[in-house]
Amino acid sequence: MSEPTNVLCERHGRVALVTISRPEKRNALNGATRGQLVAILDDLGADPEVRVVVLTGAGDKAFVAGADISEFEGRSPIDQFRVMSGRTVFDAVDRFPKPVIAALNGFTLGGGCELAMACDIRLAADTAKLGQPEVNLGIIPGGGGTQRLPRLVGTGAAYKLLFTGELIGADEALRIGLVDEVVPAAELRARALSLAASIAQKSPVALQLIKEAVRASLRVPLDEGLRQETTLFGLAFSSEDKAEGVAAFLGKRAAEFTGR
Ligand code: COA
Repeated sequence: MSEPTNVLCERHGRVALVTISRPEKRNALNGATRGQLVAILDDLGADPEVRVVVLTGAGDKAFVAGADISEFEGRSPIDQFRVMSGRTVFDAVDRFPKPVIAALNGFTLGGGCELAMACDIRLAADTAKLGQPEVNLGIIPGGGGTQRLPRLVGTGAAYKLLFTGELIGADEALRIGLVDEVVPAAELRARALSLAASIAQKSPVALQLIKEAVRASLRVPLDEGLRQETTLFGLAFSSEDKAEGVAAFLGKRAAEFTGR
């Protein structure tokens, strides 16, 4: 019997819409789903026709309601360590060489909130609810939540979410900086695809180098980040995209970027 397909992928021109699809389990991330998501991202990362990825959840209830809690039962500490120390979905999204937009279409909890935070931009439906409820299970976030959340929202707001396990609505998430835009639920998919399409027209070289530089800003001291930016700026000058972008501006025409 073949594996169930828990992750769907549709092309919309240069945009890939990736949908985590276990709606009956609120799109909770079990091992099969995590493996499929990483494999799809590997394919999309290597495909030059794909410039931007939108990540969302199936149905209208959840983006991702967290790790699949049923897999926690009976799992030994060393098994859990191995699950988390292999290549994770969080790493696969964070290191993905192209922009990834999360379209949060409902519950975005635990590992789902961590997955959203690993994405580059977060759009939320006005119906979305976000939180890190791990504390209610007697555990802590293990997909980067204790690190990315305070960087995004500040220490106090992060502690409030992490200590209480309370869920917040999309507007509150926007207020604290956990999401970047809130749109009516019925318009979320179209808005995410149109934002992705506008980014997909840009130079893939520049997008990749921007992502590399911004990732550095979250990891290294300012001086080192500035040095990395200078190096990446120089690297951009070696690209055909730079030659095309400059020539198109000077020639008063639209640029056609190839990603080389
Ligand atoms: N892991 C495994 N199963 C999950 C799940 C998760 N994280 N989240 C939801 N499900 C399952 C439920 O067990 C239920 O399965 P069942 O129909 O076989 O009983 C199904 O999804 C629907 O969930 P239900 O609770 O009935 O839906 P709801 O819309 O009333 O509530 C949530 C949705 C997301 C608020 C609720 O399911 C929830 O709190 N989930 C756990 C969230 C969490 O703690 N995540 C962090 C994990 S570390």
